[in-house]
Amino acid sequence: MIMEDLVALCKRRGFLFQSSEIYGGLNGFWDYGPLGVLLKRNVKDAWWRDMVESHNEQKIETGAPSTYEMTGLDCTIIMHPQVWKCSGHYDLFHDYMIDCRESKRRYRFDHVRGRWVTGLKHGEGGAAAVEQKVFITTMETEDVQTALDAAAGHYFGLRKKDMDTLKWEGPIAGITDMTSFDEVVGPDAKRPGTLTEPREFNLMFKTIVGALGGEDDAAFLRPETAQGIFVNFKNVLDSTRVKVPFGIAQIGKSFRNEITPRNFTFRSREFEQMEIEFFCHPETSQQWYQYWRDRRFRWYTEMGLAGERLRLREHEQAELAHYSCGTADIEYAFPFLPEGEFGELEGVAHRGDFDLRSHMEGKLVRQGNELVLEKDAAGQVRHRGSGKDLSYYDDQRKERFVPHVIEPSSGADRATLAFLCEAYTVDQAPTAEKGEDANRTLMKFHPRIAPVKAAIFPLVKKDGMPELAADLYGELKEYFHVQYDEKGAIGRRYRRQDEIGTPFCVTVDGQTLTDGTVTLRDRDSLEQWRVPKSKLADELRARLK
Ligand code: GAP
Repeated sequence: MIMEDLVALCKRRGFLFQSSEIYGGLNGFWDYGPLGVLLKRNVKDAWWRDMVESHNEQKIETGAPSTYEMTGLDCTIIMHPQVWKCSGHYDLFHDYMIDCRESKRRYRFDHVRGRWVTGLKHGEGGAAAVEQKVFITTMETEDVQTALDAAAGHYFGLRKKDMDTLKWEGPIAGITDMTSFDEVVGPDAKRPGTLTEPREFNLMFKTIVGALGGEDDAAFLRPETAQGIFVNFKNVLDSTRVKVPFGIAQIGKSFRNEITPRNFTFRSREFEQMEIEFFCHPETSQQWYQYWRDRRFRWYTEMGLAGERLRLREHEQAELAHYSCGTADIEYAFPFLPEGEFGELEGVAHRGDFDLRSHMEGKLVRQGNELVLEKDAAGQVRHRGSGKDLSYYDDQRKERFVPHVIEPSSGADRATLAFLCEAYTVDQAPTAEKGEDANRTLMKFHPRIAPVKAAIFPLVKKDGMPELAADLYGELKEYFHVQYDEKGAIGRRYRRQDEIGTPFCVTVDGQTLTDGTVTLRDRDSLEQWRVPKSKLADELRARLK
């Protein structure tokens, strides 16, 4: 499949549009069109229904060590900043930046520009001037050299008329190639060597809460929905009768200031996640991890991603986050990736007791095999937790413990994109339905996620067929998302529905007028058969499961 064809279809038929397109678009942001919103909502509804609503807490699911309960949450996007400090996102969710120990300023590493310069540096306290070669820097601006001249004049203490005593060398460059930071003069520094080595910069979007807010009122748009679940763990326990093992599910927007948003919706800056945090006893956590890994993989296959393009990949030890004792990715071979490469759809992680402990005690770091509170140079705890007791008392075992967490974390946009890629099919048009193209483009969506479930057509616009078809449309609309179409040749109408993935077309024809049956047509097999009008809703319901 050629990705450009799918992207074009998504735009032409109203699945996906670039955000703010009339203003040239905004990189990393996407809007779902009239069909896209239905498709994505169906994906999220199927996930919620299968993971939460229809989960039977009385029955042991295949592969599960015991029965379990499931419940849901819908948390805010902006939360108390301490949430992100204790979770580790504040310190670890990063891109590259540098700090100046002298000016206390922070710079984006790739925004600092500099050039080598040699000049006479006047000594302090009357000491003699000595020749010095330094890499003088400034922030990226329209005229970097003018800014560097000003910075160098300031550094060497020169008057304007003496500026030509400076010897500039080499091109204006970033500091990426510097072997020693000791020779770099930071953009606002008076001494060389005050810049720290580059550190990753935070991918969380920052905002200010309150009209008069300053830096102390800074807050963040959540980069994952998971933390809302952890901080509400106690609320859920206290307000419901759930008992460990149980899971809390949440679907919602997350935001990441990705440096390289790309590949359609695959890596966006605003996206939706479908996450479960599953709380269990430490002793059974490994079994629950295996269960969720397999359960979630099976879900994608049940929804139509079966085949070689889907795989489950266990992380190597070196890939694991510092708190994790096991992570597996469910991956799909997206067509925009090089042959043989896979992209992550979902991560299933064994997170141990890291999250609940972090929100109780404070930010944790690994020390040998232990997770310990991170301390600063003065021995003070770096980010304090809530101090609330997030442990669980098991009244059957008569034991108090901090539950371990298994986290199946999936992206609603990535899943939707995978379903779009998988569904896109071009086959030879059968002669009976031959329209203008020799090839038929169809989206083979699983009926559960297809945006339109059935289309109702009168064969011709006469003999009372439109009225009958419109009545039928009205009846079906109460239960399903259906469309009515009476424009153009019947073959052309079928094609329009195939291209948006409608699994069934219903035609009211001459025979309907005499025996009350309609023709039902299957999108994939093109098989056609007759069904009494009165049984149509039941027939569709059974086939759409
Ligand atoms: N709570 C764990 C967590 O957030 P993650 O692997 O960073 O883990 C989980 O994200 C899922 O969210 C990914 O597997 C992917 O489907 C989706 N996701 C992450 N970043 C994304 C982005 N920039 N654009 C679209 N989806 C993204």
